[in-house]
Formats: sequence, structure tokens, C-alpha cells
Amino acid sequence: MTETPHNTKKLFIKTYGCQMNVYDSDRMADALAPHGYETTAEIGEADLVLLNTCHIREKASEKVFSELGRLKILREARRANGKDMKIGVAGCVAQAEGEEIIARSPVVDLVFGPQAYHRLPDLIVKSESGQVVDTDFPQEDKFEHLPAARKEVTIKRGLTAFLTVQEGCDKFCSFCVVPYTRGAEVSRPVAQVIAEARGLVEAGVKEITLLGQNVNAYHGLDQNGRSVGLGELAFLLAKIPGLERLRYTTSHPRDMDDALIAAHRDLPLLMPYLHLPVQSGSDPILKAMNRRHTAAEYLTLIERIKAARPDMALSGDFIVGFPGETEVDFEATLAMVREVGYASAFSFKYSLRPGTPGAELADQVPEEIKAERLARLQELINAQMAAFNRSCVGRTLPVLIERPGRNAGQVGGRSPYLQAVHLEGSGDLIGHILPVEITGVGKNSIEGKLSRDTQRKSASLVESRVA
Ligand code: SAH
Ligand code: SF4
Ligand code: F3S
Repeated sequence: MTETPHNTKKLFIKTYGCQMNVYDSDRMADALAPHGYETTAEIGEADLVLLNTCHIREKASEKVFSELGRLKILREARRANGKDMKIGVAGCVAQAEGEEIIARSPVVDLVFGPQAYHRLPDLIVKSESGQVVDTDFPQEDKFEHLPAARKEVTIKRGLTAFLTVQEGCDKFCSFCVVPYTRGAEVSRPVAQVIAEARGLVEAGVKEITLLGQNVNAYHGLDQNGRSVGLGELAFLLAKIPGLERLRYTTSHPRDMDDALIAAHRDLPLLMPYLHLPVQSGSDPILKAMNRRHTAAEYLTLIERIKAARPDMALSGDFIVGFPGETEVDFEATLAMVREVGYASAFSFKYSLRPGTPGAELADQVPEEIKAERLARLQELINAQMAAFNRSCVGRTLPVLIERPGRNAGQVGGRSPYLQAVHLEGSGDLIGHILPVEITGVGKNSIEGKLSRDTQRKSASLVESRVA
């Protein structure tokens, strides 16, 4: 084994929850890199372990405490060898529970919320003289203080990248903790987003997914102080040479405005795959959830989106067993799913979250009914996903080739609809978007082959590189 220089320290970050946490974990690593921290995939060799946590459902939250139990043992083992391990809890559980975490699990050295990430190097220094908790919502723009990734780090992270453009949520759906853990909606200025996107593309990124808890509520300011929506932002990003694909997630139906729908009509780089959660197909439940739209309005919206972009594939999120949900309400959800026909969807049993309005409601649905409804819903969704994958067989789809495949002589990539695609081909194809004829479906992926024409062209592409 090679000796680590004494001034470099090893960092291990474990990420739970949504893509915004994935993005944040990278930014924390970037913030710590200038202070001598190098990421490791081996938790046992870490001088600093950060858990980037999720509070969305009880199960997600509770995972953190079992992980802290394991870390305590790992730390003891390191201490027995004359080394140490600092332990930090970041993310949404940190924001929601603050001091409580240390009370429950004294092994923790620092607790800090998503708004404190730019202060992380200072917090670590502070934690030398006692446990630290930082869950303030500061006024300053943390993104201005967070360093960008070094180019070689971005290259290592791959051909696709996340870019958070908006954070927080003002919607207050009655089941959801996000408005409390992430705070009020804030949009990053347009110039900052474009600069970050350019940096990613210059490092070889081909596909960017714009992120926000409520990404289509984006309203960043441009240099003239004018408010720019997500649709207009997509048009601006489309001008970046070398950026080939653009996605965004997660959207709220109420914020799908005309400009964004026009972007789907006019911008080929905006991928025809939209995650547009509806949660329920029943109007009384949608009202109780404070979603502020009806089932019919959601369906009309989807019609408008499909009129603009006929090949649009949809994805969604559903909650079963929200307080007061009857069998009739649940059947309305099944009917909604049948009507829309999702390419993919996520479904969850309602989880009571203390502090949210849903927690106060009478008529909590018994666990076994939730489980039974979830199973029925998932059966329908799985059938739709399989049908969507099968419907791609025989079509030729542009695939961004991203990585070597599982077996030698294979590569893997993504279709416009975010399906994992496997095909025969050499590693030289990585980084290219190529037409792939879909020939079959796997369990969670589809399979295809390059057209003869492309095979010939890619051979000359390889030759020209060798020459
Ligand atoms: N901002 C996104 C969702 C963020 S949370 C949006 O508005 O769609 C991701 C998903 O978790 C939600 O869409 C919802 O389906 C689910 N979820 C949120 N709170 C939940 C709870 N208390 N119980 C079960 N599922 C929940
Ligand atoms: Fe939560 Fe609703 Fe906001 Fe989504 S829109 S983050 S579900 S409160
Ligand atoms: Fe979880 Fe926070 Fe994301 S609660 S889903 S990590 S915003």
C-alpha cells in the first residue's frame, strides 16, 4: 500500500436521499479539497466521515442512527491503531434535528444543515474544541462561496452532471418536510448557473440535469436584474457549444408554464422525459395534500406538454395511504396512472412526519392497508415500465455512451428517456451520442446494437484517433 502524505486526509461521504444531496456531496468534497482532503471509497481509512442525510420519510431518517452506531465501532478500531475519525452529519436530518442528533448519538462531532456547506472547513476546525452544530439559514449566497470542482475532478465524475439552480420550497404540501429542511425557495443568478454549466462542458460533460426541489419554480435574476424562468434558462444554456443534453428535476405541475413547454417544443437538447409528480389521482386527497391543482388539471397539462413534444415520456411520484384516503380515492390514483401511462414512477407509503400539517390529521390509514395499496400500485407501475421498454424495441434511439459495459466488448449508456442501454462496442465510443437500434429488454434496462452505418463510421472514428 502507498503511504499517504501526512498532510492529506481521507474523506468519505455517504449520501442518502435525492439528487440534490448527490450534488451537495460533491460540492462538500470540492470545498474540502483545498484543505487537504481527498475522497476515499474505503470508509475504514477515512479521517472524516460525512453522512449527507435525508429526512423525507421516517425510514430514511432512521437509517442515519444505525449508520452512526456502525461508525462508532469503526472509530474505536481506528483509535486502537493510533488514528482517529471525525464524524459529521449533514443534509436534511441535520437541519431538522440539529442538537437532538448529538443528544441521541454522542459519537457525532459536527452537525450542519444544507445552508452551511460553504462554512464546512471552518466548522471542522471549530470541532477540534468541542461538538459543533450549525443549522442557521444565512443571508449570504452559499454558492458564491463554494469553490467549483477542479477540472480533473469533473472529468473523473463522468459525462453527465447535476447542477443545482434552485433550492428550497414554498409549496408546503401537507405531507412534506422539505420546506422546513431546505427553507424558502431561492434561485441562483443566471450568470452563476451559466458559468458553472460552461465549466462542466469544458471538462467534457455532455449532459446536464438542472436540479431544484421545485426546479421549475426557478426565477433567477439576469445581469439587468430581470427575473428569468426555467424555460428561458433552458434557451440560454442551449447556446453553450458542446452541451448536448439537458434535463431538469423535480417539477411541480403548477409551475409548468408556457415558456417551459415552448422550450420542450423548440429545443432538441431538452430531453423528452419529464418527472412530474402528482402524488394522488383523487381531488379530495390532492386538496388535503395542499397540491393546489385537481386531477383533471394535471391531465390537461400533460396533454399540452405532449402537444408540444409528442414523444414526451413521463415519470411521477405517488403517495398511498395519505390520511383520509379511502378505497375510492386510491382507485382514482390507479385510474390516473392508467390514463397517463408512465415510463417510470416512484411510489411510497405515506410516512407521518412530525411538524408537518399531515401529522395532525385524523384518519391515519392503517399500515396494512398502505402496504396492500402500495403493492397494487407498484404492480401497475411495473407493468407500465415494462410496456414502455418493450415499445422501444425496433426503434432507433440516440444513446449517450457513458461507460464500459459489464462484460468485455460492451458499453453502457442512456437513452433520451433515461433508460440504461447496453450494447456491443469498444470503449472508444464513450462520450459519443450514437443511434442505437433497440433489440430487446432486460430487467432494468434495454439492449441494442449500433446500426451498420454507425459501426463503419465509429471504426473510422477510432482510426482517426489512432492516426
Ligand atoms: N419536490 C418534489 C418532491 C420531493 S420529495 C415534488 O414536489 O415533487 C420526493 C417524493 O417523496 C415526493 O414526490 C413524494 O412522493 C415523496 N414524499 C414526500 N414526503 C413524503 C411522506 N411524508 N411520505 C411518503 N412519501 C413522501
Ligand atoms: Fe415537498 Fe411539495 Fe415542496 Fe415537493 S412541492 S418539495 S412535495 S412541499
Ligand atoms: Fe431528502 Fe432532503 Fe432531498 S429530505 S429528498 S435529501 S431535499
